[in-house]
Formats: sequence, structure tokens, C-alpha cells
Amino acid sequence: MIYGFLLGKNPELSLAEIYYYLKNRNIDFEIRKFEKDFVIISTKKLDEEKVINDLGGTIKIAEYVENIENLFVFDKIRLGLSVYPRNRKLYDNLKKELTQKLKDRKIKYIFISPKFHGHTDLKHFEVLKKIIRKNGIEIIAFFSEKNYFFKTLSVHDPSKFKERDVGRPRQRTIYSISPRLAKILINLSSKPGDTMLDPFCGIGTIIQEALLIGVNAIGFDKNEKCIQDAKTNLNWLMKKYQIRNKFSLLEADSTKISNYLEKNSIDSIATEPYLGPPLKSKPKKTYAEKIINDLYGFYEDFLLEAEKVLKPKGKASIVFPNFLTKEGDEIKMDIYNIAKKTKFKLLDLFDGKKSIIDADQKQMTRREIVLLEKG
Ligand SMILES: C[S@@+](CC[C@H](N)C(=O)[O-])C[C@H]1O[C@@H](n2cnc3c(N)ncnc32)[C@H](O)[C@@H]1O
Repeated sequence: MIYGFLLGKNPELSLAEIYYYLKNRNIDFEIRKFEKDFVIISTKKLDEEKVINDLGGTIKIAEYVENIENLFVFDKIRLGLSVYPRNRKLYDNLKKELTQKLKDRKIKYIFISPKFHGHTDLKHFEVLKKIIRKNGIEIIAFFSEKNYFFKTLSVHDPSKFKERDVGRPRQRTIYSISPRLAKILINLSSKPGDTMLDPFCGIGTIIQEALLIGVNAIGFDKNEKCIQDAKTNLNWLMKKYQIRNKFSLLEADSTKISNYLEKNSIDSIATEPYLGPPLKSKPKKTYAEKIINDLYGFYEDFLLEAEKVLKPKGKASIVFPNFLTKEGDEIKMDIYNIAKKTKFKLLDLFDGKKSIIDADQKQMTRREIVLLEKG
């Protein structure tokens, strides 16, 4: 099958997630084309509904359509159109062409236009509400050196993420990452059936998303309240989603993991460790350097321990702190040096890149995502 994936706000990271999602499951695939936020991949038939729920960084999954007219086989049709890259002229021309074809064939149609004036694509919630739940069809046109057409099969449902984020019994904004990024970290390193460790589990976001993907998970945190809150959240999740996978939690210091877990016993790690003190504004260069220096020994101790408990070839997706300073410099950890010292190999994430930044303008502590493999 040939699929088109519309990627979310960090397309390089989203593509890395898809790459390792398929690779970790031993699914053969080929990336045919990647431009901006759209990727064409050929692979076997997937369970598209499951895949969109498993992935954190994909917005739509669509199937390549050789001849668009093959979709017009009904007396009545509810039709939506999304054009990538977003170009108004291409959208208007194509809309005219499609509606003319429907008129020629005497097919009654309801055309679903984007809610936001001037937009050339339907947002995920529009496709869900106005197309998929009403048996309609969304056509995706991807314009590159030639035109590719797709029919949308599954769409990311933001309400499910929201429910597991702000709808949980326990919340704590400074300690938790989004379900989106949690899923991305899990998919980079882990596959269903794995025993995955989150050594800095906080209130359990990564563990929660791992259980939903079919990964068994162990969480450590040195803060007793975090462990209690994680337990409450995970018990809520197990009941609500009828999960059969297992989790365990331990109040423990993750710079001493091998005191608690056997060597070579863990399949994978996905985690966001302590990234330094919360910042209200961009730090000065000297302060950012101090934070990084203070954290260096902590990251090294943790990774030396992580290396002991991971199985050979086990992968660890880890968030590192990264700062843009008031002076305009980028201050980051020397990830190459830390990987060398701890005997981890840095894996490619995208086009030879060994790390990808995931941050918006407002974030003072930026997240630098890295994927390590035990030699
Ligand atoms: C950034 S938060 C993790 C967020 C978590 N992934 C979540 O979504 O809830 C970092 C966590 O690391 C914990 N922590 C810091 N140092 C630790 C250590 N040495 N051992 C274990 N946990 C530690 C903190 O208590 C905090 O909960």
C-alpha cells in the first residue's frame, strides 16, 4: 500500500517517530517522498486506526488513489478537500475541477469547506466531525513535481489526548510532558510486549501512553508524591481503557537504577529527566552554562546505570535540556561526549541528525530529543 502521512508541528521528529515505529516492529517500508509536513510511505497494509492512535506526531493517514474518479461511485457524496502544500490557487482550481466532475456525473454532493476562511485544508477535528463520522470522503491533494491524490483513512483525535492530559485525576504542569511527546519518545525506543523503563516518571504520562501502545512499563521517581499521583492516574487509566499490560512503580533514585533492577533486564527506556530549574525568561549565557554544568554529572550517572540494566541493542529515547540565551547563543549538553563515556551509540533521527529540538517560542527550557542504543 502507498500511504500519505500528514505530520504534526515538528515534522522531522514526527517522521523519525514513524521510521522507528515501523522499524521496531520489523515492518518493511520505503519513504518515497518527504516535503515540509507530508510524507509518502509504501509498506504493507496497516491498521490505520490503531496506527494513528499509537503515533504522537501524525495528524492524518491517507491511502494513495491512482484515479480520483474511482471515488465518485455514489449517487450522493459528502466531500472535503485538503491541499498540501497549502496554496489557495491550487485549492480553488482543484475544488472547481472536482465539483464539475460531480456535476457531470449527476452526483449530488455536499462540499465541506475549511472552517477558517482562506484555509486550504481541513483540520483534524473537522475531518472527524464533518467527514469521517458522517461517512464522507476527504481527498488530500499533495502537490510536488507531480500531483498525488489520497483518501483519508484515519485522523488524530485531540479529545482523546485531552482526556488523558487534563482529564486525569492528578495533574502537575511542571512535572508532566504532553501525551504527544510521550508517545513519540515511546515509539522511538519501544515496541509492544517490551518492558520499558521511565526512570523519571513524574505523574506517569509516559507510562500511561506506553500501556496504551501495548508496552509494559516500570516507573521510578525519587519524589514520593509523584509516585502516589502516578499510581492514582494509572489505576484510573487501567480501568477506563481496560488495559491488560502491566506496570510497576518505585520511589527510587535513578542514578542508582542497578540497585533495583537486574542487569540486561530492560528492553527500552523512554524518559524526560530533570531539566533544571523552571525559567520565566531566556537565561543569560553564564546561567545557562551553569545549569548545563550542574546537570552534566547527573545525566552521566543516570546513563551509566541505564546502560547496565538495558539489554544489548536496547534503545533509550531521552530528553536533554537545551537553551537559547538572552545573548542569542545555543547552550546544550555535549551529547556526543556523554554517549562516548557511557558506551551508548547515538542513532540517526532524521537525515543524519542525531538530535531534534522540540520546543515552541514560549519554552525557555527547550527539549533536545536523542535516541541512544546500547552497544
Ligand atoms: C520532568 S519530570 C518527568 C515528567 C514525567 N515524564 C511526567 O510526564 O509526569 C522529572 C521527574 O524526575 C524526578 N527526579 C529528579 N531527580 C531524580 C532522581 N535522581 N531519581 C528519580 N527521579 C528523579 C522528579 O521528581 C520529577 O518527577
